[in-house]
Amino acid sequence: MRLLFWFQLVCTLIAVTAAGDDFSFTNVDYTGFACKAALYSTAVYCATDSSYDYLCYCDNDSAIGSFMYCAYDNLKSEKDRRLIREFFLEQCPNATDSHLEAVYQNASRYMVNTSTLADFNRTKAIDFPVYYNIPLFDANFATYRAFYSNYKKGLHWGAALVGYWGIIMFCGMVSSMAHKFAPTLVISANKMASRTWIVRTYRKFVSIPALFGPSHADRIIMGGALPTRLDSLIICGFCALCVIFQAAGYEHVENNTFFENKTVELTRLVGDRSAFISNFLMTITYLFAGRNQLFLWLTGWKQSTFVTYHKWVGRMLVLTVLNHTLSMLITFVVAGYYKEDSVEEWWIYGAVAVVAGGIMFLQAMSWLRVKNYEIFLYVHILMAIAFLLGAWRHIDYFGYGPWAYATAAIWCFDRFIRLVRIFSFGVKTAKVCIVSDETLQITVDRGSWWPFFPGAFGYLHILKTSVFWQSHPFTVVKTDNNELRFYIKIKKGVTETLYKQLLSEPNYTGEVKVAVEGPYGDYKPAEAYDQVLMYSGGNGIPGPFAYAKELGKTTIDETTKFVKLYWVIRHWHSMDWFLEELQLLQRYANVQTVIYVTKAHEGKLGEKLTAHFDTSSPSSSSEKGSEGHEVVVSHDYLETVHKMLPHIEFREGRPNMAEIVNQDIDECDDKNVAVITCGHGNMCDEVRAAIADKVGSHKKSRIDIFEELQTW
Ligand SMILES: Cc1cc2nc3c(=O)[nH]c(=O)nc-3n(C[C@H](O)[C@H](O)[C@H](O)COP(=O)(O)OP(=O)(O)OC[C@H]3O[C@@H](n4cnc5c(N)ncnc54)[C@H](O)[C@@H]3O)c2cc1C
Ligand SMILES: NC(=O)c1ccc[n+]([C@@H]2O[C@H](COP(=O)([O-])OP(=O)(O)OC[C@H]3O[C@@H](n4cnc5c(N)ncnc54)[C@H](OP(=O)(O)O)[C@@H]3O)[C@@H](O)[C@H]2O)c1
Repeated sequence: MRLLFWFQLVCTLIAVTAAGDDFSFTNVDYTGFACKAALYSTAVYCATDSSYDYLCYCDNDSAIGSFMYCAYDNLKSEKDRRLIREFFLEQCPNATDSHLEAVYQNASRYMVNTSTLADFNRTKAIDFPVYYNIPLFDANFATYRAFYSNYKKGLHWGAALVGYWGIIMFCGMVSSMAHKFAPTLVISANKMASRTWIVRTYRKFVSIPALFGPSHADRIIMGGALPTRLDSLIICGFCALCVIFQAAGYEHVENNTFFENKTVELTRLVGDRSAFISNFLMTITYLFAGRNQLFLWLTGWKQSTFVTYHKWVGRMLVLTVLNHTLSMLITFVVAGYYKEDSVEEWWIYGAVAVVAGGIMFLQAMSWLRVKNYEIFLYVHILMAIAFLLGAWRHIDYFGYGPWAYATAAIWCFDRFIRLVRIFSFGVKTAKVCIVSDETLQITVDRGSWWPFFPGAFGYLHILKTSVFWQSHPFTVVKTDNNELRFYIKIKKGVTETLYKQLLSEPNYTGEVKVAVEGPYGDYKPAEAYDQVLMYSGGNGIPGPFAYAKELGKTTIDETTKFVKLYWVIRHWHSMDWFLEELQLLQRYANVQTVIYVTKAHEGKLGEKLTAHFDTSSPSSSSEKGSEGHEVVVSHDYLETVHKMLPHIEFREGRPNMAEIVNQDIDECDDKNVAVITCGHGNMCDEVRAAIADKVGSHKKSRIDIFEELQTW
């Protein structure tokens, strides 16, 4: 699998370096180009002569002499003269270096100024060496230099944008690898660093908090989530570079020999520059969207982080393509080529890519995405195919096909690995049941090789449903029977479809064929911290629970890590779908579990708990609630819960996350703390805000936050 990842890296590098050698022109090359063009404007050596073609120069000593005279007149150093001879030999491989030198020596004695010749006809082929036209040479030199240095800027600055992400990812990679291979050392070093004001201030104001206020995971603006402040700065830096790289450094040449006016000249330069930059952005846009891309593994970042970057690189790609389109449109309209070229295949395919990119830009808006994720996904994939196809046929015409091939390779690689993962898991029969009318519990055999780790998640294909091709990510818990178990909140899509199918099954329990694509995710080195605090809510419990199980110890000594696991649920009945796991925590002496029941007063009890609860006892009473649910007001009920889960502390009401976090961290004192969160976005955001605030003043130890929740 890793070999394949390296294959993907090679594809990326090919994309980045594709055509990298093409425009490495120097002043010597520009001199060669300008001499040829200036000489062609002065005289021709055969009927098919042109401003850039050397065919009728290669075996014509007069033409060679004229060229060499022009070149040597402008290049004085030995090195440059050798390079210009090499330049000429590339055009005329049959000539030799000594021949060029000899021809120059000979021709320079017979040079003719064509303006002194009576009745000189420039279009009639001549056979004597001529002086070049100096103003024409200067204009051509400046034109060639401006034109090709703009190409070079497009290439170099496009590569710099990729390099920008390379540097960001390199930092992430170093940090992730250090945490993986020397976690204790890194945490000690970080602890020392946290004593310095600058590090604490950076963490408080830059690396940990949300962009504005507390909102990051919670969808606040038309269903969209804001990146963290650090991610926002990284994205702003990237966007700023995109704008600067497309706006700066254009050179206007008076008497430009390529373009008839300044509008055509400048729009063409902008169009060329943005074309190169688009190629680079296209490759990384597709790369960042993948589930199986090397950098996810190297950096250990969440997929949602890459999705955030993917969105912004994609947006800049569409804007860059639009810049390219509008600039080229103006060039072609003003220069009068529009009618002729707009029916060309390359033009039409370019237009397809622009339209597909525009559609993606609009349809990927969070509001639409949240409304119907699957429709968003299908349209997005179709448009991504149309974009790549259009871009390929468009750029291939100009010789830049490798970018499209590399992009396609990156994408196909991701899809291929997905298939490999699905097929290697196979199709298995899973047990599925509805619990407490809110969660689907799916249990399937893990097989012998599926590498489970805390925080792992898999994309589940539920083959029984009419939407078997859909894959949805769910966190996995490994049971003691070597099974994988998912705890799935019933929402409005595939989860509801399965829920409705199960309603007709006895005990709301049945069997479904499933395939699991995974595992994905990154294991965080929680064991390297002295204490681990986990704040989870609702169906966000599986990840933190898996960490608690991993860190749980049946006996305690001075090296044992202390784990505190919070789980916030709305109703008592939520415990039903996690009862086995909650009971299992009793084994561990170092795991303290606290459950908050925010709407405990509504008394919604689960069947598993009520089965142990004697409702006929005199101290019990029940009545019908407003929604027709049984509202139970009973001390016996709590007693039953405590009896079944004596190791768990229950609290009723909604927790104030900031208060709890502050109190917990204060209790940890000088111990290094890992904080893991997964729950409602708003809850995770409150924890993040509290931690950001805390690290600003906490000098005694290192506090790191690992947010398991992923929103995209
Ligand atoms: C890494 C990860 C782990 C997760 N683990 C769990 C878990 O253990 N238990 C749990 O209940 N939920 C989990 N979720 C959330 C879960 O993926 C969605 O709730 C589920 O996909 C909704 O399916 P649906 O068709 O019923 O949703 P819908 O009702 O159609 O959509 C509800 C929301 O879910 C999101 N969503 C839908 N499909 C996807 C998708 N394919 N990828 C990402 N987001 C999607 C959309 O934002 C949408 O607004 C996890 C999400 C991620 C990213
Ligand atoms: N890796 C992942 O990305 C991942 C993994 C697992 C699950 N998930 C997803 O994560 C979500 C988990 O949340 P959920 O929908 O299950 O939660 P939920 O039912 O909406 O809320 C669970 C409990 O959290 C409480 N709560 C919410 N915000 C709070 C806050 N700011 N402070 C204190 N308590 C708060 C709620 O209280 P109230 O009663 O007052 O509202 C409720 O009791 C699910 O949508 C699930 O699909 C994602």
